[in-house]
Amino acid sequence: TAQNARIKIDVDRQIGEINKNLFGNFVEHLGRCVYGGIYEPDSPLSDDKGIRLDVLDAVKELNVPLTRYPGGNFVSNYHWKDGIGPKDQRQTRMELAWARLETNQFGTDEFVEYARRIGTDPYLAVNLGTGTIEEAQQWVEYCNVKEGPYYAELRKKYGHPEPYNIKYWSLGNEMDGFWQMGHLNAEDYSKKAREAAKLMRLTDPSIKLVAAGASNFRPNNDPHEWNATVLSELKDVVDYIALHMYVGNHQDNYYNFVSSPLVLEERTKVVKGMILREMEKADRGDRDPIYIAWDEYNIWYRWRAEETMTGDRALEERYNLEDALVIAGFLNAFIRNADIVKMANMAQLVNVIAPIFAEKDGMFKQTIYYPLQLFANNMFGTSLDVFVDCEAYDTDEFYLGLAEQATQQNNVPYLDVSAAYNKGEVVVCVINRHKDNTIETDIISQEGLFDGEFEVYEINGPDIKAENDFDKTNVQTVQKESVKVKKTADFSYSFPPHSFTMLKGKIVK
Ligand code: AHR
Repeated sequence: TAQNARIKIDVDRQIGEINKNLFGNFVEHLGRCVYGGIYEPDSPLSDDKGIRLDVLDAVKELNVPLTRYPGGNFVSNYHWKDGIGPKDQRQTRMELAWARLETNQFGTDEFVEYARRIGTDPYLAVNLGTGTIEEAQQWVEYCNVKEGPYYAELRKKYGHPEPYNIKYWSLGNEMDGFWQMGHLNAEDYSKKAREAAKLMRLTDPSIKLVAAGASNFRPNNDPHEWNATVLSELKDVVDYIALHMYVGNHQDNYYNFVSSPLVLEERTKVVKGMILREMEKADRGDRDPIYIAWDEYNIWYRWRAEETMTGDRALEERYNLEDALVIAGFLNAFIRNADIVKMANMAQLVNVIAPIFAEKDGMFKQTIYYPLQLFANNMFGTSLDVFVDCEAYDTDEFYLGLAEQATQQNNVPYLDVSAAYNKGEVVVCVINRHKDNTIETDIISQEGLFDGEFEVYEINGPDIKAENDFDKTNVQTVQKESVKVKKTADFSYSFPPHSFTMLKGKIVK
């Protein structure tokens, strides 16, 4: 008989603290994410503030620690002052990134109130495309200064006496992209970002700033060059560098597709190397080194056709089981790199390439909702460096995203694993990428013994293409029978094909 696969857990082999912001999300003024998603004043499902209560409940269960707002590409033509003050006096503008009319009925104050209701920290992106550094400074003043200057007083006048104390701010979005309004080259972006940062920090020295790193890997666009310039120029200034990644099953090849989170992991390691090199030369006082923020990631390909890229129903993707496994793969990769990745934001929260899908008369949870929910509610503490021994496969050459360069992966393990250790409790996350085979696995503790009941949560479905809809939930988290052990150094578990499993229990001395 074939030897079992092995997963070795060693609570002494620690990678780094898992930051709760790894399970963040993103709300952009795009399609029906805001209007018709989180906010729909004329709906019977909404409260008197226009907040969709069914959507709100689903969002709350995701335990979202941090939410990026208001874009995305949207932000590069957004002037935040359009979205404050009495609603009947707000101007409607042309929205140029996604070709909509922006009524500005939802703006900074509404977003901050929403964030408080769902218990998330707001993370605002400033407009470094068509916007000025002065506008960025004034937004920090409006949000974070208690009283005195004009914009702080304006916030008070509009009914918000206390400052919002917004900690996280990003300096523009995807400024490397030629599609970005106000696109700049890396040197010019760095100069503008540095000057914006100066004004914003003079206004509130406690804020954390995120630089726009490379957002895509196109054959004719060198992402490493962009990141190297931005890191070198802003090494003393910013706290994070933002990276973005969207993948899709373009060739309808399951095995290629489910390996794509490993590419994100490779990119993480390359950027980590660049950061370490720059940190040797940086003058940061007692501030932390720069960390990586994967502040947009997801699966986005079916709705990349020209006619569905813009307008009121832009980017309304439906997800299946293989997509959920890819999301679990991204989350495992964040945990495995928890020393350097301190923020990640799924793009986006509702309707627009999103875990929650709403129509006028109801909502449902997409397949990708479930892995994010499990991680956000369970993966705390320290990330462990797990040893995995199992069979592996090689992929063909394939395209991750439509415009991306081709990639190829060797030795992709069928089992993809991450683990967290927190106050004597270990949580192990295992994807079985094998489409057909159950993988019998010995789970071994190197230090201390497994003891008591291990809770088991599984995400799976009838087949890899299974989707959810308003009237059916084919893919969801199911709590399985727990594994009962008594002070043992190992136990066996059978991971079913195309599944994600979370095991949670105690390690004692
Ligand atoms: O999330 C959708 C879009 O993807 C964002 O607006 C942009 O930043 C990225 O290209």
